[in-house]
Amino acid sequence: MKHILITGGAGFIGSHVVRLFVRKYPDYRIVNFDKLTYAGNLENLSDVEQCPNYCFVKGDICDSEQVEAVMRQHAIDGIIHLAAESHVDRSITDPLAFARTNVLGTLTLLQTARTVWGGDWEGRRFYHISTDEVYGALPLDGGCFTETTRYDPHSPYSASKASGDHFVRAFHDTYGLPTIVTNCSNNYGPCQFPEKLIPLFINNIRHNRPLPVYGRGENVRDWLYVEDHARAIDTIFHRGCIGETYNIGGGNERSNLALVHELIRTTDRLLGRPEGASERLITHVADRPGHDLRYAIDASKLRRELGWQPEVTFGEGLERTVRWYLANGAWLDHVTSGAYECYYERMYGHRA
Ligand code: NAD
Ligand code: DAU
Repeated sequence: MKHILITGGAGFIGSHVVRLFVRKYPDYRIVNFDKLTYAGNLENLSDVEQCPNYCFVKGDICDSEQVEAVMRQHAIDGIIHLAAESHVDRSITDPLAFARTNVLGTLTLLQTARTVWGGDWEGRRFYHISTDEVYGALPLDGGCFTETTRYDPHSPYSASKASGDHFVRAFHDTYGLPTIVTNCSNNYGPCQFPEKLIPLFINNIRHNRPLPVYGRGENVRDWLYVEDHARAIDTIFHRGCIGETYNIGGGNERSNLALVHELIRTTDRLLGRPEGASERLITHVADRPGHDLRYAIDASKLRRELGWQPEVTFGEGLERTVRWYLANGAWLDHVTSGAYECYYERMYGHRA
């Protein structure tokens, strides 16, 4: 598998996966296939855009002709599928967009891979990136999601991801398509769109704006530094077993409120503000409808079978993340103003 299609490579996690593969595998061809929705930003990849083993193709996973063309043109033999609508709050206001991309887009990609590979699965691999949210919610006082936990999605986002996961497994079981699925916990790190908790709050602290904590802030998430996720994807893509599912997690559970206090401490320190100066910005707002109480991942299968484990502690990851956003205020200003959408035009000389 040397000609790899990475869908959603201009997004948050996708851009870290693209960078890792482009740098680590100079003899591979890495094709970044991305529709460039509001969440796709080629500026995330400015440091690798000139590499000879990298190319970008603008396209929609819901369009089978575009997918087939890119697969044939680049003789694709491996797919790492990250393209998705990814934000839970947006799924509550526009669930159809999530069904379109996460269900129909995934199905279109599967069907096209099946057609193009024509039943010759040797050396082929379809790797689907999913989320721990498909498993539903855990109580505060214990338990973890394992690979055999029953699916129980609550938001339109997690329902659409669950449906995509089921189609991927159905294509393996029905047609023998060589698939792998992973379900990962909350990622954080550079280049995450500032609608998600951590970059949104860093940006708001930077501008002295309110920090909207949903409900009481008691919901718990398990945080994983994005480069550790990219390393896990590399490991699983190359050494994971066909037909298997692997959970990926950081083992860093935090209530939202505890996380926000940590974030304020780190950001205030790096901005040279007195300790706790931004605490006053915390504002409790109405809870997210259907808000899952707690997620926690048991990633022991991945550790045991493939030897992967996170390398970045939460303290170190948070420090790196806050430093990155404060040092890249221009990136934050571009994505919040929409100016990043012009990057494609500057790079390719015409509009996207
Ligand atoms: P993101 O929203 O930052 O990026 C998504 C990318 O997909 C964007 O570049 C966007 O332009 C592209 N895209 C959207 N619709 C497309 C379409 N129809 N055709 C082609 N490209 C399209 O998302 P992310 O946070 O990087 O998440 C990537 C994947 O990882 C998603 O599948 C998500 O469900 C999964 N995931 C995310 C997290 C997390 O914490 N962010 C955790 C577990 C799993
Ligand atoms: O668990 C994996 C999932 O993590 C991924 O599949 C999703 O793509 C990703 O967006 C993320 O989902 P969450 O809903 O957990 O992430 P978000 O950053 O939106 O919210 C994290 C927690 O913070 C959640 O409990 C809601 C809360 N929150 C979020 C925002 C944006 C707030 O309290 N205030 C906010 O303004």
